[in-house]
Amino acid sequence: MDIRVKITQATSLKSACLIVAIHEKRQLSPSAKVLDSLCNKRISHLVKKGDFDGKLGHTWLLDNPDGVAAERIMLVGCGSKKKLNIKAYRKIHCHILNALKKTNIKDVTLYTTELEIKDASTAEKVRHASEALLETSYSFDELKSGNKKTIALKSITLNIENKRDLPKAQQALKTATAIATGMDIARRLGNLPGNICTPSYLAKQATNQAKSCKKTRVTVLGEAEMKKLKMGSLLSVSKGSRQPPKLIVIEYKGGKTKDKPYVLVGKGVTFDTGGISLKPGAAMDEMKFDMCGAAGVIGTMATVSKLQLGINVVAIVPSVENMPDGAASRPGDIVTSMSGQTIEILNTDAEGRLILCDALTYAEKFNPKTVIDTATLTGACVVALGSHCSAVLSNNDKLAQDLLKAGTTSGDRTWQMPLWDDYQDQLKSNFADMANIGGREAGTITAACFLARFTKKYKWAHIDIAGVAWHSGARKGATGRPVPLLTQYLMNQT
Ligand code: BES
Ligand code: MN
Ligand code: ZN
Repeated sequence: MDIRVKITQATSLKSACLIVAIHEKRQLSPSAKVLDSLCNKRISHLVKKGDFDGKLGHTWLLDNPDGVAAERIMLVGCGSKKKLNIKAYRKIHCHILNALKKTNIKDVTLYTTELEIKDASTAEKVRHASEALLETSYSFDELKSGNKKTIALKSITLNIENKRDLPKAQQALKTATAIATGMDIARRLGNLPGNICTPSYLAKQATNQAKSCKKTRVTVLGEAEMKKLKMGSLLSVSKGSRQPPKLIVIEYKGGKTKDKPYVLVGKGVTFDTGGISLKPGAAMDEMKFDMCGAAGVIGTMATVSKLQLGINVVAIVPSVENMPDGAASRPGDIVTSMSGQTIEILNTDAEGRLILCDALTYAEKFNPKTVIDTATLTGACVVALGSHCSAVLSNNDKLAQDLLKAGTTSGDRTWQMPLWDDYQDQLKSNFADMANIGGREAGTITAACFLARFTKKYKWAHIDIAGVAWHSGARKGATGRPVPLLTQYLMNQT
């Protein structure tokens, strides 16, 4: 499915379908008004009769309208004019695509950039419309044997009114397409089951992806190399699995050689059973999504290389499978991390921090400008924030602010939680430098406090995506978050 931006003439356009907006209270958008006067007031009659109410996301297809060259007109409800914001605007485009999926329409032209949204430029509207359309066109059916859903729709044109908006609109479309590509990659990796998407599989995908970009290089460290680096904490998690652990390093060089890189670290637990501290059975299948931090980081690297950003970026993905087994870690085991600090594993289900801490120590070698790790780290995060935003915790307030801002711009929102030393006491161990769990209270914060002990040498932020990385229930599937957030942050650094 291809999207472009263009200045078009609705009246003479030979498109299979023109899509125009109608608000609640029978308010026609400017383009709807133009078409209405050409086709004998068919649109306003329909609206007056009450057949089409203009409620947000409702759609109506008019076939063979008189007076226009196009074969169809689709009306899309945009709800209240006053309440229209970027979120609603994106929703409208999700509904448009879902309606189009049910038809055999192959090309459409949208007149939705004319909708008025406070403080949003044409380019921003193009970006969000494109992202929403592309996001909704995603499907994952490579593991189904028959009945693969294909969309007839091949081409979408976003009409813009003003010639001077064209360059920025085109740039916005490019950004949106690149972000959607990264999200598709992240969603696919997330949706693949644990028996296919293993640490070795992730490593292979990252390696293949890099082949199409001259500025990208991938290195994969195996168990022996990690042993040499004394990554005792990471290795203690993979011990119980037959799948060998991998540390995947993706280096993108878009800046000057001596520019410090932005380092992204993504939790890549390809399946989390909890280990000997076994999880309850209900919904355990969803723990195949426990590598969504890794998927997000790998997807972001694809986006970064598509956009050819002029900065250096390094992705580090520690990847393991957390299984119960005769060789698995037991509660009470004490391991030594790469940093030299010792950890008492009081719960083998708090494994994410055990692999991240060694990856974060490894990050030091890149002399990073900033380090951002992202992980489906704590169930507590879902309890605290639900599934609307991720949590950000940072040892640097500017970095936290930059991420909050990137969240707002991209629509992939995040919210700050405190990383005060007051919480550090909860990690006290009688037998080692620290325990890997901090008790019932403030689980997301104590997890971040644990990581903070390994990130003292650089500016660091942790993003807990446990609530946003995938949908449960009927819509079960990976979301592609935090690709938009990470990409926006990186774009803002150029
Ligand atoms: N991957 C889980 C976190 C998780 C659970 C994310 C459910 C999304 C939904 C993580 O490895 C984990 O098991 N965390 C434990 C930590 C606890 C043992 C301190 C948790 O959140 O229960
Ligand atoms: Mn776990
Ligand atoms: Zn986990």
